[in-house]
Amino acid sequence: MQAPPISDSSLDRDIAKAAGRIRDGQLVAFPTETVYGLGADATNGEAVAGIFEIKRRPSFNPLIVHVLNKEIATQFVRFNAAADTLVEAFWPGPFTLVLSATTDNGIASLVTAGLDTVAIRVPAHPVARALLTATDLPIAAPSANRSGRLSPTRADHVTAEFQSEAPMVLDGGQCESGLESTIVDLTGGQPVLLRPGTITREEIESALDQPLGETQSEDKNAPSAPGQLVSHYAPAAPVRLNASDTKDGEALIGFGDNMPATTGPAINLSPSGDMREAASNLFDALRQLDRAGAKAIAVVPVPTTGIGEAINDRLQRAAAPRA
Ligand code: TXA
Ligand code: MG
Repeated sequence: MQAPPISDSSLDRDIAKAAGRIRDGQLVAFPTETVYGLGADATNGEAVAGIFEIKRRPSFNPLIVHVLNKEIATQFVRFNAAADTLVEAFWPGPFTLVLSATTDNGIASLVTAGLDTVAIRVPAHPVARALLTATDLPIAAPSANRSGRLSPTRADHVTAEFQSEAPMVLDGGQCESGLESTIVDLTGGQPVLLRPGTITREEIESALDQPLGETQSEDKNAPSAPGQLVSHYAPAAPVRLNASDTKDGEALIGFGDNMPATTGPAINLSPSGDMREAASNLFDALRQLDRAGAKAIAVVPVPTTGIGEAINDRLQRAAAPRA
C-alpha cells in the first residue's frame, strides 16, 4: 500500500503540529517504511525518558536515532569505509548502522544506554522525512509498541496498543516493509548482522564484498542487539511453528500453497508465495488472530532464504517461551 502523498494538506498540518510537539519534548508516533516509530527529540533526555516510560521498556535497551541524511548523521557518528559503502547502497531505507559516537554529540545518554556507539538510520518514508525536516532534530524512535509486543504496521495498531496513553499518531497507511530495519554493527573488526530485515544478508555481503561476522554468542537464541530478547515481537496467543495442521482452538497462518484445511480463523501471508508481501503482512496477521480470540496460533514453515531469514527470526521470537 502506498503512503498518502504529502501534498495532502491535512497531513501537512498534522506534520507541523507533530513537529511542534517533538520540539516541545513530547512523543509522536509516525510511520516509517518498516514499522511505526515512537519518536522523541534525541537530544532531550526527559523526552526520551517518556519513551521508556510509555513502552515499559528496560532502560538498558538503546534506541535508534533517525536523521534526514548522511551529512546530518556525521554530526553524531563516525563513518568508515564500510559504512560509506553500505549507506551509499541502502540509505534512505530500512537499514540501521551501529557506529562509534562522535564526542559531545548532544545525543541524550538514555538513547544509547550509556554506550559509546549509536544506532543510526535515514528512513525513506515521506512522512518520516517530512517530520525530520520540520523538526530539524535527530529523532530517537523505537517501534511504537509496549516492550516485547508486536511492532505496529498501521496507525490503528498504535492507538490500540497504548489506548488512553496513546500519543499523537501521524497516519501514513500500512508500512511497506512491515519488519523492523536490518541492523549492522560496524564498530568491531568485522561487520556483524545484529538484526535481520528486508535488506538481506546476501545484499549486504555483496555490497561489502565480504561475509558478515556472526554474533559472539554461542547461543543462536541469545540477544544479539542488546534489545533483541529471545521472546519479542510476541502476540498475546502462544505461537507454534512449522505446523502442518491445526489443533483444537488454534488459528492458522499459511504461506503460498501451504494452507492446511482448518475450521478456525486462518490467514495466508501471501497466497502467491511472495516473501516481501509475507513480511509486510506478518505482524498484522498475528494481531488479527489475537483479536479473533485465538487460543494459539499455528504457523506453516516459511522459506529461510533472503527476507525469509528476517521473517523466521521474528517468528522464532514470537514463539519463544515468554519471560
Ligand atoms: O525499523 C526500525 O528499526 C524501527 C523504526 C521505528 O525505525 N525501530 C526499531 O527500534 O525497531 P527498536 O527500538 O524497536 O529496535 C532497536 C534495536 C534494539 O534491538 C536495540 O537493542 C538496538 O536496535 N540498538 C540500538 N542502539 C544500539 C547500539 N548502540 N548498539 C547495538 N544495538 C543497538
Ligand atoms: Mg521494537
